[in-house]
Amino acid sequence: MKKILFVSSEAVPYIKTGGLADVAGSLPKYFDKEKYDVRVMIPKYACMDAAFLPKLHFVCHFYVNLNWRKQYVGILEAEYKGIHYYFVDNEFYFAGSSPYNNIYEDVEKFAYFSKAALRSLPYIDFAPDIIHCHDWQTGLLPVFLRTSFGDDSFYAGIKTVYSIHNLQFQGRWKIREVMDITGLPEHIFNAGQLESYGEANYLKGGVVYSDFVTTVSPSYAGEIATVEGGEGLDGLMAAKRGSLYGILNGIDYEEYNPQTDPHIHANFTKKDALVGKKRNKAALQKKLGLPVNEDALMIGMVSRMTSQKGFDLVDYALDELLSSMEIQFVILGTGEERYENTLRNFQERYPDKLRALIGYSEGQAHQIYASCDAFLMPSLFEPCGLSQMISMRYGTLPVVRETGGLKDTVQPYNEYEHTGTGFSFCNYNAHEMMNIVRYAYSIFTDHKSEWYAMIERAMAQNFSWNTSARKYEELYDKMTEL
Ligand code: ADP
Ligand code: GLC
Repeated sequence: MKKILFVSSEAVPYIKTGGLADVAGSLPKYFDKEKYDVRVMIPKYACMDAAFLPKLHFVCHFYVNLNWRKQYVGILEAEYKGIHYYFVDNEFYFAGSSPYNNIYEDVEKFAYFSKAALRSLPYIDFAPDIIHCHDWQTGLLPVFLRTSFGDDSFYAGIKTVYSIHNLQFQGRWKIREVMDITGLPEHIFNAGQLESYGEANYLKGGVVYSDFVTTVSPSYAGEIATVEGGEGLDGLMAAKRGSLYGILNGIDYEEYNPQTDPHIHANFTKKDALVGKKRNKAALQKKLGLPVNEDALMIGMVSRMTSQKGFDLVDYALDELLSSMEIQFVILGTGEERYENTLRNFQERYPDKLRALIGYSEGQAHQIYASCDAFLMPSLFEPCGLSQMISMRYGTLPVVRETGGLKDTVQPYNEYEHTGTGFSFCNYNAHEMMNIVRYAYSIFTDHKSEWYAMIERAMAQNFSWNTSARKYEELYDKMTEL
């Protein structure tokens, strides 16, 4: 039995701000249980859903040294859908209304988390063969493992794999302060290790110190080794190419299942999707106070409102799109205030055509996936993207920009060959986006049978974790054989 520990800053069902939580909480379910014991460790945030608290059991406590600081670590555990979760408890670090605050607080918080996770292993009596780290928040874990724990035989055989879910966030901060926070030796803050553009870089530490590096789609694995997509680390990524794998994310087929989804108005399958989707669409229109109109192309978005997700294009294009077509937009998300405010403004100007649902809601997200005709995701870059896969699972056709995982998962409609599972455009340009939305509108309005056939093809796709989980298993096998 191979023992694997996922260490992540978020995981469903406990805490989620984006797709990382979906991945860290759902992928472990899909490993072969006879061969892999995969457990998950996350912080116990004060903002975690309180409903779970009674189910968390105290395991132990101890103290961890971070340079001159000696910090409390409590470990709790819980079982959820067959997966063993551990929680690192420290009320000072994990207070606040969201998992992430200011970068200067976060660099200390996640240095603490990474070291506490390592220190906890003998206490929880789990000696993993592999620690699977995710994103910059756990970048220092492989660094601590090889430096601070380098002389301890308990840790000697542990291998690490580091998954990049988003290269834009690297955890960069002043070298002097990171040295003070971590107690890591000065000599590792050089250009070949933790230093990058004059700062300490957590993600770079993770990449340099791990045995293997993965990212969440094959296209993104290529893009991050280029100047355009490398976020300043393209040289490092290119140098790592031999041990950098792009493994496509999957989605949780139990959680996102139109047949059983408790959040949606009417459940449906591929067979009765047309009827089911119409019922959901009418119900959502009614609920949101939009005109109940089957003929309006209803376009959904469920997204963090950041520049990554293409909101600059959306802001630019909405006026023209809303004023020229029988179209409705339902947009759910939170993020940068400038985008939230612009969307609120559009809602005031187009009360019959746009709803800006500013907030975070699982229920509303599922309703949008199930009810809309199309789902817009015009990302500037997209490491993988789960929303477009969820949409297809619910027969909602994605309209995406051809980048990263969007390119790997959405086949553009070809009207001559009658193929495709959605619509796509190439350049990050509002007019290209508007053109493709207009094209989608024309197919929806004038070629209904083509639209329906595409719903069927989209729903027939398989985005479950089964294929990708096998790829991670192969990687784990390779790592432990080395
Ligand atoms: P990212 O991780 O970059 O935010 P993904 O497409 O990988 O993008 O994953 C986003 C996940 O977060 C999806 O499960 C999506 O449904 C969910 N999500 C994003 N914003 C919201 C929101 N406001 N309310 C509910 N779910 C949301
Ligand atoms: C990141 C990326 C997103 C990806 C998710 C899960 O948040 O932005 O594209 O799907 O991580 O890997």
